[in-house]
Amino acid sequence: TVVYRADYQAPAYWIDTVELCFDLDPAKTRVLNRMTVRRNPDVQPQPLRLDGDELVLSRVLVDGQGTSFKMEGSRLVLENLPAGNEPFKLEIFTTCAPAKNSKLMGLYVSNDSFFTQCEAEGFRRITYFLDRPDVMASYTVLLRADRRKYPVLLSNGNLVEQGDLGDGRHFAKWVDPFRKPCYLFALVAGQLVCREQRIRSRTGKDHLLQVFVRPGDLDKTEHAMNSLMASVAWDEARFGLPLDLERFMIVATSDFNMGAMENKGLNIFNTKYVLASQATATDVDFGNIESVVGHEYFHNWTGNRVTCRDWFQLSLKEGLTVFRDQEFSQDLAGEASARAVKRIEDVRVLRTAQFPEDAGPMAHPVRPDQYLEINNFYTVTVYEKGAEVVRMMQTLVGREGFRRGMELYFQRHDGQAVTCDDFAQAIADANPQSRFAGLLPQFKRWYSQAGTPRVTARASWDAASGTYGLALSQSCPPTPGQGAKEPFVIPIAWGLLDAGGREVASGMHVLTQESETLTVPGLQGEPVPSILRGFTAPVVLDFDYTDAQLLTLLEHDTDPFNRWEAAQRLAVNRALACIGDPAGGPLRLDAPYIEAMRSILRHPTLDAAFKELVLTLPAEAYIGEQLEVVDPQRVHAVRESMREQLATALLDDWAWAWDAHRESGAYSPDPVSSGRRALAGLALTHLCIAARQAGDTVWPGKAYQRFKDASNMTDRFNALAALVVGGQDLARPALERFHAMFRDEALVLDKWFALQAGAPDRGGNILPAVRQLMHHPDFNIRNPNRARSLIFSYCSANPGAFHRPDAAGYVFWSERVMELDGLNPQVAARLARALDRWRKLAEPMRGAAREAIARVAAKPDLSNDVREVVTRALAD
Ligand code: ARG
Ligand code: ZN
Repeated sequence: TVVYRADYQAPAYWIDTVELCFDLDPAKTRVLNRMTVRRNPDVQPQPLRLDGDELVLSRVLVDGQGTSFKMEGSRLVLENLPAGNEPFKLEIFTTCAPAKNSKLMGLYVSNDSFFTQCEAEGFRRITYFLDRPDVMASYTVLLRADRRKYPVLLSNGNLVEQGDLGDGRHFAKWVDPFRKPCYLFALVAGQLVCREQRIRSRTGKDHLLQVFVRPGDLDKTEHAMNSLMASVAWDEARFGLPLDLERFMIVATSDFNMGAMENKGLNIFNTKYVLASQATATDVDFGNIESVVGHEYFHNWTGNRVTCRDWFQLSLKEGLTVFRDQEFSQDLAGEASARAVKRIEDVRVLRTAQFPEDAGPMAHPVRPDQYLEINNFYTVTVYEKGAEVVRMMQTLVGREGFRRGMELYFQRHDGQAVTCDDFAQAIADANPQSRFAGLLPQFKRWYSQAGTPRVTARASWDAASGTYGLALSQSCPPTPGQGAKEPFVIPIAWGLLDAGGREVASGMHVLTQESETLTVPGLQGEPVPSILRGFTAPVVLDFDYTDAQLLTLLEHDTDPFNRWEAAQRLAVNRALACIGDPAGGPLRLDAPYIEAMRSILRHPTLDAAFKELVLTLPAEAYIGEQLEVVDPQRVHAVRESMREQLATALLDDWAWAWDAHRESGAYSPDPVSSGRRALAGLALTHLCIAARQAGDTVWPGKAYQRFKDASNMTDRFNALAALVVGGQDLARPALERFHAMFRDEALVLDKWFALQAGAPDRGGNILPAVRQLMHHPDFNIRNPNRARSLIFSYCSANPGAFHRPDAAGYVFWSERVMELDGLNPQVAARLARALDRWRKLAEPMRGAAREAIARVAAKPDLSNDVREVVTRALAD
């Protein structure tokens, strides 16, 4: 049943303490849950309704006595409770079956170890409880298990006691000193080893940091530990927020639905975001580990110390914590140019993933108003757009003002479960004179209105008075359930360049009305505008730039974001002109564009990382979003042809770039050397593409050599990808060799599957290859990472191969959604979203996609997760 934000009511009971006792057994784990419970005097008296899911109940005692109870669906209802507001003892004894738990929510088994995932509503799969974030309790946890099979027993907080039980069993008792909502509960039991680090914080307190992994993986934990130490130091330095625990643990598991989870003092991670060595992980992996370790650690304050009142407030912790992890990675990157690279990467994610979400059937506000299944709302809108909303607050009150706002937020709300309003209010109250405080109610429309606003700018130039005008107007398209939108508060950083590329004016305009004009007097000649510098707001900027203006910005803008953006616009304009050409003729890239790309590639001072971003063409999905009706195969063909022409026209330049950047010294994943590797990789790909055009075998040979000799995974994988993307015969033997080299490295095999499923389609060859890989002995659909690496890489990340006129891609998709739904509805629902944008497709794909979705929707016993996605997709 649908849950509405407007229906929020405080809980009828509070749970103050929880004592959990586990007898861990994969087939049947026994859970004794002893709580102190009392009525909430502010709510009218009513029975206690406890959430539960797939539990076997054996006993309920109130103050030590048996009591009557009934079931309402999966809820346990207690009606005959002691009168009055005094606390009483409630004991519930249940069992569950962790080995059969394929949903990976609640308590489950992975590689013979026990793990938990409770956010959002997994705790009810462990015991009956008020499974909602505004019920906060103190936890004591006793774990009992076979000592040989489960030598390590972990839970939140501090280890207070451990010992032997005889019979080959042992126990550990953990006490968490902080009250917490049950979604932050965790336990881990298994054969694990750990890397340890003792640190002393600025305040002089000592802490133990631990990273737990399976025995063979210890040599891949150094980077995660370094990232954790950097996170602790950063939160203290930037926000004055210290580590509040004696002991902070990270545990890695290879079966995990999402990236990681911020359980108090016991973060549980997908191995993908912990394990790294130069031999097995790429620079991108190293970067992701740094930001996810930071993200989960930063949740300790933004999420755990102050948590969400209800799940509609999810962005309170997620948007804020993504903003914090983005700032962390920028600060670690150091130099301004490296910070800009990180910013561009973050915006690229927002525009290729969140903008389509905001324009599709699952569009929802940063603070949603309703859901059927909360797991469907762990989205790029709640996370990434939510982070942009927090970033705009910082832009409007300044860095210092934002820090003051954070201080006030913790002064007011430490230990509480609060709302997005409380956060925005604290930022405003700490900066009472700011523009932000004055605009607060209007600013908060960013939380309530879905859809990506479009800002249209029109220039005017009065030569007589030397006055330049930018007429700015905003609008926002309708989204499901929201027809008309009110104007947003849109901070727009801008600058003006003269004909020679020098900056003659700059500023920040805060657009609040539907339309306003920005006027700059006193100019010598008509300037070139650089609008929305640094992407100061999550909007689409519509300005009719001429090629000449874009070339000026690309060459001279002092804002690296808009410099990159100018190149993106040049490329998108060319792609769209060709796609929209009714004659369907081939695309011929013009000399000015090619020369501009050449001069960036050869630029004497720009960073390699920045060059790589500029020379990477906009993604097919991003180009597709600019079109009313999309033929993904046409988009693919046009983009491929642009890439081929860039490859051939810049052949000597790519060869130079390869030579000049191929060596990056002793491996380190820092921004400078990873930027060099990225550019060398891009060069090698273009050289292999050009070689295919020319029938040349020299560059493929060099790529194969590099593939064999590389001393790190980034260079090795880039060489392999160059052969695959370049359609070279050597790709086959290289793939086989790669598999043989890494057959025991699960995360590397994921890359191997993903590369093949995401390769450019040549005559419809990808789908048969994917179907064949489904039968590969290393494929296992129950493992989310492996399912994503093969199935999602094809359905969600390879539009040119997936959207086939014969509908075979959609048939494959519907089969997999239904298969996964029986195993793991969360993963199935993510896959279901691959067809979100079906309405935009050209026929015959559009009709075929609709049929495939309808087929899924008609399946009996569909999970809420998938049902919500497909119903919304089909709704008019
Ligand atoms: N709070 C976690 C994070 O962002 C995500 C957990 C989501 N889990 C889920 N089952 N929806 O770091
Ligand atoms: Zn998070």
